[in-house]
Amino acid sequence: MVRLIAALVGIFFSGMLLYSFGSGAVAYISEPPAPTAEHEFHLHPKEVEWSFNGPFGHYDRKQLQRGFQVFSEVCSACHSLRLVAFRDLKDLGYNEAEIKAIAKNWKIKTPDVDPKTGEASTRPPVPADKFPLVFANDVAARAANNNAVPPDLSLMAKARHEGSDYIYSLITGYQEQPAKLLKEFPDSKTPDGLHYNPYFANLNLAMPPPLTAEGQVTYDKGQPKPTVDQMAQDVSAFLTWAAEPKMEARKSAGIAVIFFLLVATVLAYMSYQTIWADKKH
Ligand code: HEC
Repeated sequence: MVRLIAALVGIFFSGMLLYSFGSGAVAYISEPPAPTAEHEFHLHPKEVEWSFNGPFGHYDRKQLQRGFQVFSEVCSACHSLRLVAFRDLKDLGYNEAEIKAIAKNWKIKTPDVDPKTGEASTRPPVPADKFPLVFANDVAARAANNNAVPPDLSLMAKARHEGSDYIYSLITGYQEQPAKLLKEFPDSKTPDGLHYNPYFANLNLAMPPPLTAEGQVTYDKGQPKPTVDQMAQDVSAFLTWAAEPKMEARKSAGIAVIFFLLVATVLAYMSYQTIWADKKH
């Protein structure tokens, strides 16, 4: 009797489950949800040929240095890089003296107050310091940025899908709102103070276009021309390094492991042959 009741309860629940799936599917097909502007106009990031793509990819040190230059001269006005220390820049090919010279351009706030001015006092960074925050907190960040908080960029390349391509596409992707969008979705006009960018998830971004003119950053002699496209690629490569400084080690470990497994497989097969050589099987 108990079995019969349990089976009936089971059949009832599975029946309800099938019924709700079925009715959901019928409703979806007969009356599909209304399309949204994001759904129709959001674009997938552009694909870039990065030097670090693929299993044998490597960072291009010169490109990382140029990207760091773009970050420090442009992006760092609004964005912090709080997980990277000055001494980590050694990885970009700078020596200790160069790192000390770079650190001199930044200031670390101390808890003290300058007795002469009453302002929070600062000290020059040592190589072990992390890059300082730009704003004291989110309130100050919002006040300075039209009520949006510029996110920390340390892990941005990992926090977004196809991060390196995404950052590059976002920076180079600002455009006029397409007339087709406004025709289809008249309520979706980009609000004042925001900027239309089809690579951003909700299409309207609070960040003004950060790179607008060729030569905005002056590159050293022998480096490529600082076009907007080049600067955007360089800063995206730099932010990829910031998010994954050990990428090269990870890739070469992967190759070593695969090589080891191949050799081990051959050895295992050969020992199998030897052990069973004089047996019928
Ligand atoms: C004038 C200030 C300002 C400057 C300069 C600036 N940004 Fe931004 N950035 C912002 C703000 C504000 C946001 C938040 C936008 C939002 O949430 O709508 C943002 C967001 C971002 C995002 C995150 C987008 C996302 O998917 O959430 C990235 C990546 C970014 N900025 C990269 C850069 C890079 C690279 C530079 C330098 C080339 C730069 N920004 C320069 C203000 C700035």
